Amino acid sequence: MSENSENAPEKVEFTPIGYVENDYFKPEYKEEVYEKVSKIVLREDLVDGLYRVEELEKLYILFYFSKSEGYKLIHRRRYDGEMSGVFASRSPYRPNGIGLTLVELLKVEGNVLYVKGLDAINGTPVLDIKPYMKDLEEKEKENTK
Ligand SMILES: C[S@@+](CC[C@H](N)C(=O)[O-])C[C@H]1O[C@@H](n2cnc3c(N)ncnc32)[C@H](O)[C@@H]1O
Repeated sequence: MSENSENAPEKVEFTPIGYVENDYFKPEYKEEVYEKVSKIVLREDLVDGLYRVEELEKLYILFYFSKSEGYKLIHRRRYDGEMSGVFASRSPYRPNGIGLTLVELLKVEGNVLYVKGLDAINGTPVLDIKPYMKDLEEKEKENTK
């Protein structure tokens, strides 16, 4: 596809579906967060979208790195200390600022989901929630072998 393809959208806008509530107020790395419980407070008008969500054990949470300013195309990765491009890393400083975390779903109360392992800080806008489906993940893994 050419760089100037007519199909390439110039801008995409999202309205958050909710936000995160937890005890982390600054965007700094804390290993302990993966053991902590966060709330995801969904917009009331979207609550029907949670139908049967309590049947799921794990969810993917897509969120926006609202406290990141700018991005770095090359940086040092935290997990192995190597230099890499942003698309080869989990850096919160990304061109579109989208975070993706797999969490454990503990319970659902109305429009609030209680999840464990969410590494987004308090107030982080949530963009989407998707189920982790073991069978589907396995199939996708097979398809990429
Ligand atoms: C390395 S990122 C990984 C996030 C996600 N697991 C991913 O792979 O996209 C985690 C870091 O993002 C930071 N962070 C969380 N919420 C943020 C926000 N709203 N704005 C900016 N940084 C945030 C955290 O403090 C943590 O240091």
